[in-house]
Amino acid sequence: MNKKLIVANWKMNPVTYKEAEELFRFVEKGMRDIKNAEVVLCPPFVYLPMLARLFSKQFCAGAQNCFYEQGGAYTGEVSPLMLKDIGCKYVIVGHSERRQYFFETSEIVNKKLKAVIEAELKPILCVGEDTRDSFDSKGHWTHELDPKVKEQLVLMLNGIPKSKIGEIVIAYEPVWAIGTGKPATGDDILSAKIFIQKVISDLYGRKVSQTMRVIYGGSTDSKNAAVVMKEGQADGLLVGGASLDGEEFVRMMKCIAL
Ligand code: PGA
Repeated sequence: MNKKLIVANWKMNPVTYKEAEELFRFVEKGMRDIKNAEVVLCPPFVYLPMLARLFSKQFCAGAQNCFYEQGGAYTGEVSPLMLKDIGCKYVIVGHSERRQYFFETSEIVNKKLKAVIEAELKPILCVGEDTRDSFDSKGHWTHELDPKVKEQLVLMLNGIPKSKIGEIVIAYEPVWAIGTGKPATGDDILSAKIFIQKVISDLYGRKVSQTMRVIYGGSTDSKNAAVVMKEGQADGLLVGGASLDGEEFVRMMKCIAL
C-alpha cells in the first residue's frame, strides 16, 4: 500500500526567507517520528533552492506551479527542468487559484502536465467544481449537475499515455471548500473519488484507475483531517492555510500518519 501523501501548499507565504526557514525547520523536526506518510512541502519559488538542500527522503520539495516549456524566452517563468535540477520531486498543476487569477485553462494545464512528466517530476493535478450545487438536496454528489470535473480531467489528460498515468496524483479540490473553513464531508470526498476513478477508468481502464492516488484539499485542519482521510478514503491531503502554522500542521500529520 502506498504511504499517505501530505502536501503543504504555502501559496504566496511567508513574506521573508527567515520565516520560511523557521517554519520549515519546525515541520521537519515535528515529522521525524512520522513513518506512514510522504510529506511534500511547496514553498514559493524564491525559497525553493535554499530549502531544497534541507529536505530528506521522506520529506521532499514540491513547486506550486511551472511553465510548459523547458527553457527559452518566457520572461518571468520557471521550467520543470529547472525545478528538477534543484531537487524538486513534485509540482502542483492546475490549482484553482491559477485558473482564477492567471486565467489558466484546462488546455494550458494539459501542456504543463506534459512538461512536468517529460522532466520526470510527479504532477499533483488539481480538479474541482466551483459550487457545491453539484450535490443534490440530500447532499449526494450528482455528476450530471456539474460535468466540470469530468470535463477538466478529459481536457487536462488529453494525450497523456497510459504508461505515465501512474505518475500523476489527483488532488480533488472543490473550489467552494478552499480557504472557506467549510471542508467537503467524508461522503462528498468518497463520491468524488469514485467519480474521478470512473472517469480515469473510462479513459485508461479500471486497473489504472484503482492504483491512482486521489488526495483531498480544501479547509483541512487537525480537527477534520482524520475524518476526511478515513471517511473520504483519501490517499492524502493538500493543505493550504493550516500548513502555515507549524504546530497545527505537525498535529495534522500526527493524527493521520503516526
Ligand atoms: P486551504 O487550501 O487548505 O487553505 O483550504 C487548500 C488549497 O488551496 O490547496
